[in-house]
Amino acid sequence: MSEESAEKKIILSGIQPTGVFTLGNYLGAVKSWKDLQEAYNCYYFIADLHSLTIHIDPVKRRQQTRQAFALLLACGIDTEKSLVFVQSHNKCHAEMGWIMDCCSQFGELSRMTQFKDKSQKHPDNINAGLFTYPALMAGDILLYQADYVPVGADQTQHLEFTRDVATRFNHTYGEIFKLPEGYFPKAGARVMSLQDPTSKMSKSDTNPKATISILDDEKTILRKFKSAVTDSDAEVRYDVENKPGVSNLMTIYSAITGKTMDEITGEFRGKGYGDFKQTVGQAVADELKPIREKFDELMNDRAFLDAEMKKGAERATRIASKTLTKAKKRVGLLLEN
Ligand code: TYM
Repeated sequence: MSEESAEKKIILSGIQPTGVFTLGNYLGAVKSWKDLQEAYNCYYFIADLHSLTIHIDPVKRRQQTRQAFALLLACGIDTEKSLVFVQSHNKCHAEMGWIMDCCSQFGELSRMTQFKDKSQKHPDNINAGLFTYPALMAGDILLYQADYVPVGADQTQHLEFTRDVATRFNHTYGEIFKLPEGYFPKAGARVMSLQDPTSKMSKSDTNPKATISILDDEKTILRKFKSAVTDSDAEVRYDVENKPGVSNLMTIYSAITGKTMDEITGEFRGKGYGDFKQTVGQAVADELKPIREKFDELMNDRAFLDAEMKKGAERATRIASKTLTKAKKRVGLLLEN
């Protein structure tokens, strides 16, 4: 594989190893990552440094990082086409993160909704990393001069923050960073909890019925969809405000089948929610089955995974260190010879 094809635009995205990916991660991000591999130079990474903002048992964190790497490959990310790596394996992220910290303002970081949400969820661990998280994320993106960042809608604010910090840096020290744009999938950008469809489906939800893990088996998936919260008027119609549960199931079904909301309404006209939930659940189970099988195969080949991680780390470091060196020069750090 060539280092980079100059004529292709750069796509970059990351995912935290805080648990098995959810259907939200998959439909909101990873599924589209796979489809972008032909047309772009794609760089995907496991954001293990970001995961340090949450307390996880260290042994578990290591396991989850390896699993997350295998999951990306199982979801169809191909290391022959894309660069795949673990964030902490490339030291440039931590260094650039600090430079970005020093270009970020307390006020703008205080306005981040993810910080507010996470501080509420973990009141006993509101660490400084949780607060400066967007600065580390800005560094991740700017290090690779990414053109587009495919993410779910929950990351919009962090992308705007990245553009603001890059603009400030370019203005203060001279133009070096490309301003990245978000890239949101048409369907699936916001997958909600199956039990509370007004909050997003999240890896850290304590109610297992609320979340589909991409490694859930068919029986579990069908059971969870059967108990998904809907409403009492028995009409399959897209209306997020008044019918959040049904609209969420339609979003999921649309993201998997490519059908429009009108087509879905037509398909289930005159049928009950029972049929609807069963069909959506089956579509999800069929989509996830090959991923689960591939994941099991990959997890049995540790040597292969380790070799791919090493290859990814080397290439990521080569690319990122060019931008990092420029940034260090611009801010006036004395470079070692
Ligand atoms: P993370 O690990 O929370 O989520 C990974 C991706 O999944 C998307 N996502 C969702 N999409 C739709 N519906 C949902 N319910 C849902 N839940 C999660 C997220 O939008 C994301 O695209 N900060 C990032 C990781 C990161 C990153 C980066 C991403 C670190 N550095 C640089 C892009 C570029 C995060 O916590 O993702």
